[in-house]
Amino acid sequence: MAAAGSAVGLGNIWKFPYMTGEYGGGAFVLVYLITIAFVGFSVMVAEMLIGALGRKDTVGSFERLAPPDKKGWKYAGFMGFNGLIIMTFYSVVIGWIFYYLFKLSSALPTSTETAKATFDNLVANEPGVQIFWHTVATLIVTYIVYRGIKGGIEKINLILMPALMMILFGMLFYAFSLDGFSKAFSFMFEPDWSKLNSEAIVRAVGHSFFTLSLGMGAIMTYAASLPKHTSITQTAFIVTFMDTLIALVAGLVIYTFLFQEGAPAAQGPGLVFISLPVVLSNFGYIGTFLALLFFLALSFAGLTSAVSLVEPVVQYIIDRFDTTRLKAVLIAGSAYYIVGIGALLSYTKAWGETFSIAGKPLFDILEYTTDSILLPLGGLLIAVFVGYVLQKERVRSALAHEMGDRYFAVWRFSIRYVAPIALVFMMLNLMGVLKI
Ligand code: PFF
Repeated sequence: MAAAGSAVGLGNIWKFPYMTGEYGGGAFVLVYLITIAFVGFSVMVAEMLIGALGRKDTVGSFERLAPPDKKGWKYAGFMGFNGLIIMTFYSVVIGWIFYYLFKLSSALPTSTETAKATFDNLVANEPGVQIFWHTVATLIVTYIVYRGIKGGIEKINLILMPALMMILFGMLFYAFSLDGFSKAFSFMFEPDWSKLNSEAIVRAVGHSFFTLSLGMGAIMTYAASLPKHTSITQTAFIVTFMDTLIALVAGLVIYTFLFQEGAPAAQGPGLVFISLPVVLSNFGYIGTFLALLFFLALSFAGLTSAVSLVEPVVQYIIDRFDTTRLKAVLIAGSAYYIVGIGALLSYTKAWGETFSIAGKPLFDILEYTTDSILLPLGGLLIAVFVGYVLQKERVRSALAHEMGDRYFAVWRFSIRYVAPIALVFMMLNLMGVLKI
């Protein structure tokens, strides 16, 4: 449940729908689904395996599992620190969501102009408001992580995950009754191949890592405290399945509402913050209620993922420096909190230039670096480590009895060839080596 809480996040409800809109609907969805099935799921099993066999923080697990002459692999464990970089902007976005929850409870914007003005004004002119909500988000996440995996993280997931599912499925049932539903369905599931280009394919690979929380040790850290006889394959399957299901449901719900009002699909990252409230304002009180439910679900999803972004570093600090959980949480929390303020200031009018590098806002730099470079790199390291460095017999004895010999061979082929090739291809594209 905790791993599913990590995977299901802003990536599913905010990012997946707008990317689907940007990259042409059905064709993007199909490539994303294929990527999840052939790359994402295999890497999820591999990452869980490292955690379940290593049973330590990310650095410790790599170090323990690497053969004696390859102990340098422990440095791969520093992928856990990517979580703090992601948190710098993730916490800011959770802050925006809190702000929307607060703001929308009084009135929904009735035109796209007002909605856009509200969002743009928040981001460009209200650093104080944003810092306030970023602080609230940080305090909540810090408190949950401080309570630990058993006391805090597992409990909060046990409440928030089913609540999120209920809210989303409730909205899906409502969406069934609207005409927009059939349009949304064909938009998402009838591929228009002319819209698919290689950039969309590359983005689908990157997004599948982000959405499944792969490549930075979150899943590894959670797997380190899995009960000994839990099936890794089954757990990885459930997490992958739930994550994908929730992204698809969120997409269907959002597009039903949009198409119901004749709004366009390609609207970029503002899709949820700008368009959705306007569309829902047409439904009167039900609309306000749905908007609140929606942002509540989004904040739940964000919080449970945020917790998993901080936990790997906290584990590392506790294991390495023999310190208390409280101190470790405070160190990790302050680090991302401070840089996060820089990230949000980089979008403001007053401070934008100060917090930009080469004309690029710090927010975008942090997002791009993690999303498009560090997570795929982490995924590649995991695939190579499990596919080539870990002794085959060890891997086989952990997994073959769960999968059966045939599927084990398929998975191993995927982790040794399909995943590394797909990831290298993607990274070469990002570096501009391959022209697409
Ligand atoms: N999977 C989360 C989402 O979809 O929002 C984001 C995330 C969490 C990425 C944890 C990476 C991670 F390790």
